[in-house]
Amino acid sequence: MLSYISAKQAAEKWDISQRRVAVLCSEKRIEGAMMVGNMWIIPSNAEKPVDKRTLRYEAAHKAELKPFVKWVGGKGQLIDEIEKFLPADGENERTKYAEPMVGGGALFFRLLSQSRFKQYYISDVNAELVNAYIAIQQNADDLISRLYDMQMTFLPLDDNGRKYYYYNVRDKFNTVALSEDTSAEKAAYFIFLNKTCFNGLYRTNRNGQFNVPMGAYKNPSICDEENLRNMHEALQNVTIVCGDYTLARDFIDDKTFVYLDPPYRPISSTSMFTAYNGDIFDDNEQIRLARFIDEISAAGAKIVLSNSDPKNINEEDNFFEELYQNYKINHVQATRAINSKGDKRGKISELLICN
Ligand SMILES: C[S@@+](CC[C@H](N)C(=O)[O-])C[C@H]1O[C@@H](n2cnc3c(N)ncnc32)[C@H](O)[C@@H]1O
Repeated sequence: MLSYISAKQAAEKWDISQRRVAVLCSEKRIEGAMMVGNMWIIPSNAEKPVDKRTLRYEAAHKAELKPFVKWVGGKGQLIDEIEKFLPADGENERTKYAEPMVGGGALFFRLLSQSRFKQYYISDVNAELVNAYIAIQQNADDLISRLYDMQMTFLPLDDNGRKYYYYNVRDKFNTVALSEDTSAEKAAYFIFLNKTCFNGLYRTNRNGQFNVPMGAYKNPSICDEENLRNMHEALQNVTIVCGDYTLARDFIDDKTFVYLDPPYRPISSTSMFTAYNGDIFDDNEQIRLARFIDEISAAGAKIVLSNSDPKNINEEDNFFEELYQNYKINHVQATRAINSKGDKRGKISELLICN
């Protein structure tokens, strides 16, 4: 007669976490596993499933990686335009890629999927965002099982239940301090909040507390396991840094392609999305960035910088023409919110500046 063992016993036998056993059972990767009450039981003669991660290693480099967060200023729709500015000799001469203000990393993940460069450097000043990248790189199993648990708990709830759960996670996110020990836990809260909050915004109050209300998504994808696992493999040789973009200085040389996507200069008094993490990216910051670009350009790097085009509303505004006199300024079309409420969208011009 077939005998069964508990998920805890299977975890000990296979030397993996109990959560991982539950994930494998729910993915139907353990033949004969059954849910009894709220516990998984597993045939005692079941084989440990082959680790798909090893099999996927090659595929991971080819699979199209999608950003794991929705991010303000995400470059999804401009990627094709920006790609036209990549050096044709990406593989041969320019072997290094740096994106020092990576955000959701739409272009970075496209290029990483294509193994277009040999070495990659990414950074951002948002410590929680960078922690999530690091958790995917170093702690993917733990992160995925936490996200999976959250998804399985959150999705079946009614509106009130979801609200209660969301605000509870938000409180925990704001209470648990970021450390090496809490990295996967905080990354799971961060990704959960990003997927379920209003418009995927990341906004904090004066005390640095995340304060975005819950969004109204019916069926948000909280745990995209396949994408996260592919990303985990692909991120193994990527340098991930938390801090100011100038820290990239040591990495950047004449073999490097650098894409810089700063918070956009507001094109109207009602554009508000230039404050990241409480810091305002004002004109002085745009000027500081331009000086850094001069420096890396002189070191031989190929650069592309994106920004808003002030001429959309004021033909006389020559801010970027003056700042980037020695560069080529290209105009591309993007679809953006064009009124203060963000509910009307239209085509506007944006800038891609390169050397
Ligand atoms: C427009 S977003 C980048 C969006 C990204 N290209 C994407 O596809 O999602 C700008 C990013 O710059 C980061 N940032 C702002 N000031 C910075 C600084 N001084 N150093 C590094 N990153 C900074 C913000 O945290 C934000 O993630």
